[in-house]
Amino acid sequence: MIQPIVLTDHEAVSQRAADWLVERLHARPSSLLCLATGATPMRAYALLAERAASDPRLTSQCRVLNLDEWGGLGAHDPASCARHLRAALVEPLGLTDRFIAFDGLAADPAAECARIAAWLQQHGPIDACVLGLGINGHLGFNEPAAALQPHAHVAALSESSLAHAMIQGAARRPTAGLTLGMADLTHAREVLLMVTGPTKQGPLARLLGGQISTDFPASLLQLHPAATLLCDATANGRPAT
Ligand code: F6R
Repeated sequence: MIQPIVLTDHEAVSQRAADWLVERLHARPSSLLCLATGATPMRAYALLAERAASDPRLTSQCRVLNLDEWGGLGAHDPASCARHLRAALVEPLGLTDRFIAFDGLAADPAAECARIAAWLQQHGPIDACVLGLGINGHLGFNEPAAALQPHAHVAALSESSLAHAMIQGAARRPTAGLTLGMADLTHAREVLLMVTGPTKQGPLARLLGGQISTDFPASLLQLHPAATLLCDATANGRPAT
């Protein structure tokens, strides 16, 4: 059962998440990092970029894999997941040659997912995976369903994902999600789930309720032997201890 580490606020969670990433990079400099975007982890990535700027060896060998992408949005679209990661981490640290991402504009999204799946099979497993919690319990674009997909796949987006703040200003409505699958995430050596803010109170309570169900994909992290959950007091619904 994952025990949450409850911190005061989003900034404290971001600082602790940056520490977690730095520790993993020190332990395994060639780590394959798999990173979510969305609002929750971006400050942690900015803090990691600051640390790496003063200690370039930290990220001199790591590889960064983008967890997911909005189908129909290109890498230069301001709303795309790739654009967020490039701006926060990849470009400031010069990781372009070691950045692997879905092409949201691929003419054949299924073939694009097969390309990423083959890459991960050859270069995986993921060493350290940073995830955010969807309001509906999704991880990446692994949406609640009767059955979940193990590897990279094209996902039909739920209404809740289509309402995500990231894409509200997008010029085009995404057609689908391209995402790593649940086995890719649960086979990561270590996982960090970050949960902050008032909208995550209900989802976090459900996660901590302990029932494991494909109807709430994040609940599968309860089975992971090395998952860390960082949350703030607001998401947890009580003051940090
Ligand atoms: C984005 C992603 C999503 C988000 C989730 C939480 O790359 O994988 O699963 O992590 O929707 O988003 P925020 O952090 O914006 O609440």
